[in-house]
Amino acid sequence: MATAGHAVNAGALALEGVRIAIGGRTLVDGLDLSIGAGECVTLMGPSGCGKSTLLAFVAGSMDAAFDARGRVLAGGDDITALPPERRRIGILFQDDLLFPHLTVGGNLAFALHERARGRDERRARIAAALAEADLAGFADRDPATLSGGQRARVALMRTLLAGPRALLLDEPFNKLDAQLRGEVRRFVFDHALERSIPILLVTHDEADARAAGGRVLRFGDGGPPRS
Ligand SMILES: Nc1ncnc2c1ncn2[C@@H]1O[C@H](COP(=O)(O)OP(=O)(O)OP(=O)(O)O)[C@@H](O)[C@H]1O
Ligand SMILES: [Mg+2]
Repeated sequence: MATAGHAVNAGALALEGVRIAIGGRTLVDGLDLSIGAGECVTLMGPSGCGKSTLLAFVAGSMDAAFDARGRVLAGGDDITALPPERRRIGILFQDDLLFPHLTVGGNLAFALHERARGRDERRARIAAALAEADLAGFADRDPATLSGGQRARVALMRTLLAGPRALLLDEPFNKLDAQLRGEVRRFVFDHALERSIPILLVTHDEADARAAGGRVLRFGDGGPPRS
């Protein structure tokens, strides 16, 4: 049994006894992990060891080909059996494309459809999110006209506007050049941690892990994770 971190159940995001296998190969076994509000845990390990699969298990989007056991708790609620749209888990990928047929504002509105009541409230929340991302006045822009850093900030805002209870980051900085990577990384951590949500970051980059500033969990090749 591998235990990473504090007592199970104490965190805003908790995994209990997670085991994930596919075709006779065990990717994750006996994983207990608790991430507190405003804490970022970094998950590292070789390609193919199951990092993205574990995030998919948490988000509820894991392919049916995998055999998974264990529980996911968010804010103390067992969300293991819920469909992805009811889990309120935000996820950001390296290929997080904005919808090309929508404006920047339309992309942000997409995250709000159930949470904001009237049109005025939606517009106000979008304007506030754009201002927070230093993109005031960008609502009518075509996403294709944004820089890489601007696009990354809009993608984060879209994820946060949906009011997630936890944020999963799957190598979200990979496509950015070194300088932009540092800036976007700071932006993501600052704005996510400001909301006091737990973050689980997957990366191959030690500098990302250092910037995250929290515990680092290392998956071996099929072995249990090491803290
Ligand atoms: N839908 C699927 N069906 C069968 N096998 C899959 C499926 N998705 C992933 N796999 C396999 O499961 C293993 C874990 O994949 P996963 O994407 O979780 O790795 P990873 O740790 O995220 O790797 P990387 O660092 O390269 O992103 C790999 O061997 C992969 O080939
Ligand atoms: Mg992956």
